[in-house]
Amino acid sequence: MDLLALKPAAFRHVVFPPSIPGGVPAINFTAHPVPAPSPPASDPATPVETEAFLRWVFEQGGLNVRDYKMETLRRRLPACVRALRARSLAEARQVIQRHPWALKAALGSLIIGVTGFFRDPAVFASLQEQILPEITARGATARIWSAGCSEGPELYSVAIQLAELKSLHRCYLLGTDCRPESIRLASGGAYDSQMVKSVPPDLLARYFIQEGPHWRIHSWLRTVVQWRGGNALDVCEPGAWDMILCRNMSIYLLSASTARLWRALAAALRPGGVLVVGKAERPLGTPGLSMVAPCIYRRE
Ligand SMILES: C[S@@+](CC[C@H](N)C(=O)[O-])C[C@H]1O[C@@H](n2cnc3c(N)ncnc32)[C@H](O)[C@@H]1O
Repeated sequence: MDLLALKPAAFRHVVFPPSIPGGVPAINFTAHPVPAPSPPASDPATPVETEAFLRWVFEQGGLNVRDYKMETLRRRLPACVRALRARSLAEARQVIQRHPWALKAALGSLIIGVTGFFRDPAVFASLQEQILPEITARGATARIWSAGCSEGPELYSVAIQLAELKSLHRCYLLGTDCRPESIRLASGGAYDSQMVKSVPPDLLARYFIQEGPHWRIHSWLRTVVQWRGGNALDVCEPGAWDMILCRNMSIYLLSASTARLWRALAAALRPGGVLVVGKAERPLGTPGLSMVAPCIYRRE
């Protein structure tokens, strides 16, 4: 089964790691054909055409464009049209309708997926010293969700910290993202040398194996993390969570959608559970949340 050819609605239900005989295959980082040179651009689209196109692309990806800051998306539109090797928005739409790879390429160029291992070291220090020991000391399985996990480094960083604390076996870890391609890469767990620069050398040696130019997370660590596609603004992953990481996603959302997101995530925490946000994000005003450390908020 080609998991990547599935439609977005069906994609939500695909859980990684898939049971592939012989393990997870090596990642082909050029997932779609090497494109021909860009054709010359035709007349610029009107604002109405631009918005209609963006609305349609987001709908194809199971998202609502009205949740996002339009200016950011407009700025990224030329990159999207280039990625599709199209000359106009009408042609870009046709490419997406005809080719399974094109929706991934369009969403990949419109939605920002910048991520990294142990991004914001002070936050990861608080997790290691205070939060993870607390939530794993309760005895029950600790449930941790990374919403908007991108290609996985954030959740693998937490998994590595839990392994260092010898608590990983008592945890359930889930990563979700609206971009199917990022979920595929997260489940493969292979990163280039630039990406693993922020991993301390002793942890790199313990939790990764080098495969040519890439560093792949050890299979035993990959198998304890679940990945699936999903729109965090639409669906709250079921169950009460001890920790939800939702970092650097709301900065691309409009304020009403951001407030809705924080309220839904706060409600999904068990009492005493924590929400971890990005450095530029503040879920202030969300009922029931209070700050315990920079970027970390507890549900009372
Ligand atoms: C800038 S990245 C941040 C990744 C990671 N949390 C970090 O801080 O390193 C934002 C991620 O949120 C994802 N995203 C955006 N809107 C989303 C939505 N509605 N539901 C789920 N994921 C979303 C994007 O695809 C992207 O991977």
